[in-house]
Amino acid sequence: MCGIFGYTGKRSDGGSVVVDGLKNLEYRGYDSWGVACKTPSGISVSKDIGKISSVDTKQFSYSCCLALAHTRWATHGGVTPENAHPHLSKDGTIAVVHNGIVENHEALRLELLTKGYTFVSQTDTEVIPYCIEEEMKAGHAFPEAVRRACLRFHGRYAILAMHEASGMLVATRTGSPLIVGVGEDGYYIASDIPAFIEHTRTVQYIDDGEMVETDGNSIQFRDILTGTERQKREVRITWTVEQGQKGDFPHFMLKEIMDQKESIARAVNQDDDAIRAVAEAIRSAKGTFLVGCGTAHKACMAAEYFFSVVAEHHVNVCSAGEFKLYHHFLQPESLLIVVSQSGETADVLEAISVAKAKGAKVLAIVNVEGSSVSRAADYTLLINAGPERAVASTKALTGQMSVMLLIAYALKHALHDGKTLLLETSALINDMLNPRYVERIAAIAAKIKSHEDLYIIGKSWHYPMALESAIKIQEVSYVHAEGFAGGELKHGPIALIETGTPCIALLGNDEVTGDMINNATELKARGAMLIGIAPERNAIFDEWLKTPDAGAAQPIVTVIPMQILAYELAVQRGKDPDMPRNLAKSVTVK
Ligand code: G6P
Repeated sequence: MCGIFGYTGKRSDGGSVVVDGLKNLEYRGYDSWGVACKTPSGISVSKDIGKISSVDTKQFSYSCCLALAHTRWATHGGVTPENAHPHLSKDGTIAVVHNGIVENHEALRLELLTKGYTFVSQTDTEVIPYCIEEEMKAGHAFPEAVRRACLRFHGRYAILAMHEASGMLVATRTGSPLIVGVGEDGYYIASDIPAFIEHTRTVQYIDDGEMVETDGNSIQFRDILTGTERQKREVRITWTVEQGQKGDFPHFMLKEIMDQKESIARAVNQDDDAIRAVAEAIRSAKGTFLVGCGTAHKACMAAEYFFSVVAEHHVNVCSAGEFKLYHHFLQPESLLIVVSQSGETADVLEAISVAKAKGAKVLAIVNVEGSSVSRAADYTLLINAGPERAVASTKALTGQMSVMLLIAYALKHALHDGKTLLLETSALINDMLNPRYVERIAAIAAKIKSHEDLYIIGKSWHYPMALESAIKIQEVSYVHAEGFAGGELKHGPIALIETGTPCIALLGNDEVTGDMINNATELKARGAMLIGIAPERNAIFDEWLKTPDAGAAQPIVTVIPMQILAYELAVQRGKDPDMPRNLAKSVTVK
């Protein structure tokens, strides 16, 4: 949800630094972009609709030591150059970029109109530079003016503001992520680490309710409410620059799907004592609740089956946005397990607040070290997938599922068996993901790419994978795909099947395979073009994609060819799988 990046320091290529860095944050929003640079003749602003990846960085190669930039995912006001950030103060000496929503912007707008301000955009953001300007008119220095203005804003947001005369960069955080990169040549402040990782791997996290101010030589952290100074420690980031790059792959999505050759083994590389402690916490909890959004929610749904089938232990699963409903069932002895790739999803953070208000403990399973979710939780397990840049989540899903399957085995007092199974599965996936396999999926995609409707069925732990496969196909190829539990077909959806409708059945070698074959046969009898994703061939399949037999890890294996199918459908239909329309990778608004 919007990418923010600012730089101040000794470098003279600040404009190019922020534009280049923001190209690494484009997954956060890509409907428009904008840059503000301090130049000898004042603040120079360039902004437009479209993707920052298509902007020629050379045009910002003039001398500039203070700059900020933004990629937008529109919330208030359509996608127009006027609504793109940065927004300027009336006198043009303050530039602001913003992520999140100023919820009381309408009241502030009315007040500012009476003071002679005029608005050139429909955004909530434009009130921010004007409110700062008002505070400066009242005699406050720039950082204090930003602090005082922030006290007037309601909602969750991150703001980055620069001031021409003082040369200061000020950032404030209330709910949306902001991280400081501490370089030898200055300070980098961004919504996420990939923006500045090529310049520094030393970071300081800005917490909610905090602000930072820097002139490029030093940096101060303060409490927004009181203005008092806060001390911060520096943290070294373990991600490498290469992990966040596309390499020879045409798209991040394909690269990240292929990363699963190694990422599952990395997810499983957990401290045994830590996993056993989590299992013990689940065993003794009065109710365990698994929550996440989107793909992470589907990982939680799959984990419900892991806990049931492997450990015979009941857990509750719910979409993070719906978790409020559960607050009556929470006690101080309850355990909330939140699952999130980014660790910044607003609904997940709210679920944590709901649990904490009841005194319950929170375990986070996240990919991003130091993320808001991780810092709000009592305990964190990292899935170690490495940076995930494509909007469509792939390797994070299988990492999340692997960690939860491992916990289920630990709950059964069989952690070693779980580790062995997952490492064997990782090897099977490595073998499966060869070029011929991808070509075979591409050929299936070519056969079905002109269909606008597609149905996927699965039973038991393959049911959440059917839902997840449908999400993948919808978001990147824009084909109307729907996932169903095999047994649900007869209760409605089967009416949609016509001769030639592509239907995909996800199967393993387990106790529900026979039922699933029956469900698939029902589709076939209505004329469906049936694609089986399964360890064994069956005569009813028109197309068969073999998957290795991975026992309890089968859903982790099964979903991977579906990710490739979604990718191939997108590419063959001429869509950009890395930047699907209307979506953003990190959803920091509720
Ligand atoms: C967005 C992304 C999804 C992701 C979901 C949850 O909708 O597009 O890919 O699954 O957010 O994100 P999280 O970072 O919490 O896993």
